[in-house]
Amino acid sequence: MFDFEKFIEDCKEAVVSDRPQQRVKVLMENAFSDPEALQQAMDEVSPEKSVAPLYSDESLTILRVATPANFVSPIHNHLMWAMIGILDGEEKNCIYRRTRDGGVEVEEEVVLTPETGIFTLRADAIHAIETAPGKPMFGLHVYGGNILERSSRSMWDPETMEELPYNYNQLMDFCKTLIAKRESAA
Ligand SMILES: [Fe+2]
Repeated sequence: MFDFEKFIEDCKEAVVSDRPQQRVKVLMENAFSDPEALQQAMDEVSPEKSVAPLYSDESLTILRVATPANFVSPIHNHLMWAMIGILDGEEKNCIYRRTRDGGVEVEEEVVLTPETGIFTLRADAIHAIETAPGKPMFGLHVYGGNILERSSRSMWDPETMEELPYNYNQLMDFCKTLIAKRESAA
C-alpha cells in the first residue's frame, strides 16, 4: 500500500533540504518501485485519469498527469526543475537549448516510458512533448516550485518560432494546431 500523504510530506521536507532534487528523485524512484501500488493510491485520490494537482505550495507541486494519445505541445519552459515519472504509455520529450541568435534548437530527444525511470528536467530546460497515436500517457510530476502560478514563463509560436509570454489558452490553441497538422500529415 502506497502512502500518498507520507509521499507528500517527504517531498515537502526534501524540497527545503540542501539537496532537493537528489532527495525528490529518490522519493520518486521509491514510489515508482511498486507502480501498481502507486497507481492504486492515485486512483484513490480520484479514479478519473485526469490532470490534477495533488499538492502545491511555493516550493513544490505534485501533479498527476494524464495526456491523451496523439497529443503534441508547443515548445515551452517551466523555470523550475521537474521530475517526471511515467506509469503508463510514453511521452516523447524534445529538449531545446537557446542559440546565440535568440532562437532555440533541439538539444536532445528522449522517449520516456515506465521502463526508463525517473527523468529530470533542469530548471532552465525548454521542451516540447508528444504522445504516440493510440497511447495515452499517465504519470506523476514533481516540480521544485509552484508550476501552477509561476510567472515569466515562455512558450514558442510553432509557426514563427517566436518566444512569447506563457499563456495557457494560447498554448492549448497551439496544441490543437500542432495535433491537426500531425493528423493531416499521417
Ligand atoms: Fe512541460
